[in-house]
Amino acid sequence: MNTARSSIRCAGCGWVAPADDAYPFRCAHADGDDVDHVLTRVLDTTAVRFPRGAEPDPFVRYRSLMHSYHLATDAGLGDDEYVQLIAALDRSVAAVDSRGFRVTPMRRNALLSDRLGFSGSGGVWVKDETGNVSGSHKGRHLMGLLIHLEVAERLGLTPAGRDTLAIASCGNAALAAAVVARAGGRRLRVFVPADADAGIVARLRRLGSDVVACPREPGVAGDPAYLRLREELAAGAVPFTCQGNENGLAIEGGETIAYEIASGGTALDHIVIQVGGGALASACAQGLREATELGAIAREPRLHTVQTTGAHPLERAYARVRALLPEGADAGRGSNAGRLRRADVERALASAAQHRSAYMWPWESEPKSIATGILDDETYDWRAVVGAMLTTGGQPLVVTEERLAEANELGTATGIPVDPTGSAGLAGLLDLRQSGAVGADERVAVLFTGVRRD
Ligand SMILES: Cc1ncc(COP(=O)(O)O)c(C=O)c1O
Repeated sequence: MNTARSSIRCAGCGWVAPADDAYPFRCAHADGDDVDHVLTRVLDTTAVRFPRGAEPDPFVRYRSLMHSYHLATDAGLGDDEYVQLIAALDRSVAAVDSRGFRVTPMRRNALLSDRLGFSGSGGVWVKDETGNVSGSHKGRHLMGLLIHLEVAERLGLTPAGRDTLAIASCGNAALAAAVVARAGGRRLRVFVPADADAGIVARLRRLGSDVVACPREPGVAGDPAYLRLREELAAGAVPFTCQGNENGLAIEGGETIAYEIASGGTALDHIVIQVGGGALASACAQGLREATELGAIAREPRLHTVQTTGAHPLERAYARVRALLPEGADAGRGSNAGRLRRADVERALASAAQHRSAYMWPWESEPKSIATGILDDETYDWRAVVGAMLTTGGQPLVVTEERLAEANELGTATGIPVDPTGSAGLAGLLDLRQSGAVGADERVAVLFTGVRRD
């Protein structure tokens, strides 16, 4: 599906979703080979401007960067009508979850900055998603998808309300999907692990979702809920997921978090992001890169990722891609040290994408951690995230349980009710401060992505 301002392309094989495809979610060639097929919304940054509006709803404020907006307005829908469509959906979200989507706070946190030994000019900036719809950032991915589905219906590309939506998740993504699907009046099936939290399952059911428990089977590698989701999608359900490999368009809604960070005016040196399936980090990487190309920020911050000692498939993939690049591929000195040339990185990633299983495969043992939201067996959006770490000179961090606990204690001491997954980025920052990779005068963002639910 193409508009003058954006297109949907497979980063693995180059396939472009055709104009009459109302579901530009998954590459048409995605099954049957070892290529890393992930659809990406490619923005023509020469044809759009970075929005400078102050609308409180990020989906309104950043609408001119969204594929659904390009699709709608190219087909003759007015800007007003598009805004009204979002406003109506947002009212429905608020009716279900007692709040709609609003730009979330981002502030320098004095307590964290002091405790981590930053100077007055440096510090820790916290982007707080704990008060976002359903208590995490996940709804951003799904609201972007819901808006797309509504636009496709409004334009007559799909029959109204016909689809069953489906997701595999053990927590925040499922809760967000249930809220957003309910707000859109759509059926949702949620595949959860057999040991999913009973409180969360009950809430999903109260929200009207059809919850399917998926036990692990001996000798079968991979997340059982995800394997069941794949079957459901093969049978025709629409992927309502927070994973770019299942629905590339999910990344776009998540990018609003990066656009908000870019609008904030703080020249960040680093951003440290916890990674499960990788959609959050992929969205941040893409959004910050676009914001840089559009002149909203001067330079992309270094992107560091955080996984746990329990499972770190992204770090494994990073090491393998890094090994494809020549020593000395370093693009710069001083503040550019460690940033690799984009062309070199793109070449290495293009080659890695032809042999996905040599870079990304399910973690062999069942991982455990207090940061339950980042225990995905695979980092589905690994390629975009590895690329961003290499071009910005960031690192894939692997943190211990002790560090996660320490970070959560520190995080909650700020008064923000963040859960251990939500504060895992801070755990990574503690490591980066200890190793000296982040200096006292530097500015660092962490994302408090999930609220404590107990
Ligand atoms: C609170 C929270 N933060 C971060 C993540 C990681 O996001 P992603 O799976 O997109 O890497 C998750 C995933 O479940 C989460 O629940």
